[in-house]
Amino acid sequence: MSQPADSTAKRIAVIPGDGIGPEVIAQAAKCLRAAMAAGGRQAEFTEFDWGVERFLRDGTSLPAGAVERVRQEFDAILFGAVGDPRVPSNQYALDILFGLRFGLDLYVNMRPCVLLDRRFTPLRDRTEADINFVVLRENTEGIYVNIGGQFKRGTADEVAVQEEVNTRKGVERIVRYAFEYARSRGRKRVCMSDKSNALTHGHDLWQRVFKELRGAYADIESRHLYIDTLAMEMVRNPAQFEVIVTNNMFGDIVSDLGAQLSGGLGLSPSGNISPGQVSLFEPVHGSAPAIAGKDQANPFGAILTAGMLCDHLGWTPEGDALRNAVRAALRENKCTADLGGTLGTHAAGEWVAEQVAKHGVPRNP
Ligand code: NAD
Ligand code: IPM
Ligand code: MN
Repeated sequence: MSQPADSTAKRIAVIPGDGIGPEVIAQAAKCLRAAMAAGGRQAEFTEFDWGVERFLRDGTSLPAGAVERVRQEFDAILFGAVGDPRVPSNQYALDILFGLRFGLDLYVNMRPCVLLDRRFTPLRDRTEADINFVVLRENTEGIYVNIGGQFKRGTADEVAVQEEVNTRKGVERIVRYAFEYARSRGRKRVCMSDKSNALTHGHDLWQRVFKELRGAYADIESRHLYIDTLAMEMVRNPAQFEVIVTNNMFGDIVSDLGAQLSGGLGLSPSGNISPGQVSLFEPVHGSAPAIAGKDQANPFGAILTAGMLCDHLGWTPEGDALRNAVRAALRENKCTADLGGTLGTHAAGEWVAEQVAKHGVPRNP
């Protein structure tokens, strides 16, 4: 790969993926470029064709050497979504997604649940002040490690085993990240959630690690909820949460719940982060095959994802510019049908990009 002309230029890998991925990433990349132009930032973009079409064409999911290449040659990855009904096993998609998450050791899956405009929460009488928390999902172990097997498959005696792996190192680093994140953002509350009342081995480790670490964070209110209670409390009173930390699968589930509380999947960004290392940014939603290719997908989750990518690169004003522009689009109803608007994917992205160009990046206070 050629070196960027400007030594301060960042190197961004773009993986649009499948379904609505390419549609929303085209809008996110356009808005990101607009924010970079407004802020005087430089980056070189390199697009990769990893996804279902390539897989169906030549059998490649994540190419050999891809993880090393990305680690060495890029600062951040902008990712759409993978998954296609033509490949029911979904294995090629997992090879790509988990290949990158696990291969790059992206142990923090950060999923902010921030209500940008009160009209878009399904909860009655809740406002922007009530829904503003982040789910920090452990992203490299748990039940996602693909340890297990099937025995006597397809018979009446069939057995299927899927193991959940919890390591001290893995639990400790995500719980510590949650406390450090809270402290550095002026957040006062961390809630760890597990199912230790039933899962007495793996989740007991979460309990012990949480109790060991919380002592060093006396300035933060630390609390535990079982995952079923957490789900209920998120709906009953979301205002009580600031930072939620949990395992891989519970984090997957409650982040979709949090997404809906804050306006829906189409509006929800995420980061797969390895602090200080190349990290991968993707909307929370998937490839949404039913609406792919119809210019219907909401691009705002992907645009807000580009905002998180900016934050990771140290480009906070550009991230803020993207968030402000999306907030303006919501306020003025310049949005797609899932939010009650009349715009297509392209037009909604275009409106945000123009808004960014018009207002520029916010100045330092
Ligand atoms: P999904 O997120 O693709 O869709 C769920 C629902 O939300 C659908 O009704 C869809 O139309 C709607 N939706 C999602 N994004 C939207 C957007 N931007 N604008 C408007 N509506 C939107 O989840 P699913 O249906 O469970 O999964 C579809 C495929 O995506 C599967 O192959 C799944 O494995 C994959 N997936 C991939 C990722 C990823 O790449 N990180 C994440 C989730 C799901
Ligand atoms: C997500 C998705 C993935 C996950 C799927 C597609 C494997 O749901 O990113 O939230 O479970 O991590
Ligand atoms: Mn999910």
